[in-house]
Amino acid sequence: MLNLLHVGCGGSRLKDLPGFFNDGQWAEIRYDINPDVAPDIIGTLQDMSILEDGVIDGVYSSHNIEHVWAYEVPGVLAEFHRVLKSNGFAVVLCPDMLAVCEAVVAGDLEKPLYVSPAGPIAALDIMYGHQSSIQQGNEFMAHKTGFTSSSLAGYLMKAGFEKVVVARDQIYGLHAIAFKTSPEQQRMDAVVSQLMPVVNGEVSVQVFGAA
Ligand SMILES: C[S@@+](CC[C@H](N)C(=O)[O-])C[C@H]1O[C@@H](n2cnc3c(N)ncnc32)[C@H](O)[C@@H]1O
Repeated sequence: MLNLLHVGCGGSRLKDLPGFFNDGQWAEIRYDINPDVAPDIIGTLQDMSILEDGVIDGVYSSHNIEHVWAYEVPGVLAEFHRVLKSNGFAVVLCPDMLAVCEAVVAGDLEKPLYVSPAGPIAALDIMYGHQSSIQQGNEFMAHKTGFTSSSLAGYLMKAGFEKVVVARDQIYGLHAIAFKTSPEQQRMDAVVSQLMPVVNGEVSVQVFGAA
């Protein structure tokens, strides 16, 4: 089996992740700071020292890295890199600040832009964290920083990932796949085609790292 470290999992479980991880080959380790979501490991993104170096096949981080301060981001991504096996990769999803800022410029700060399982989401929620969750006392949901496709790729490359692929979706989200070592083209294409969003019938990505 391959192991998938599902960081900042919240209430999400393996079955909620893309089909790629539900082919029967992946076993999930749920990791979160909040004990209320019943993770397998209670821990922070900033300090994952409970995990040894090079033991993880995949890191899945959906909407977490905006929950730490900008100065902490390099350390968090260095932790993802450290725990991965040399042929491992990290999947990182986070808000697309360029798309959110375009919505704000268009006058849509508080108007719901789309409806998520947690309820309606406005630009304000994407920029500062899900307001109704925070109002209910869950301050782990506050957002402390933001990313564009190029800043996210830059952080991942600086953390030591050899190949980084980034895509923008249609619901104000960025998707990155960061390979610890450059994969063969066939493997990269297979992972990218199954994990990246399809926009207007196409998977459109930016690739960073040596050819
Ligand atoms: C917006 S939720 C995302 C949940 C899930 N990954 C998803 O996409 O539906 C953010 C999650 O990150 C967790 N979190 C926030 N700060 C964290 C930190 N410093 N270390 C670990 N987890 C953190 C929160 O507890 C929460 O479960």
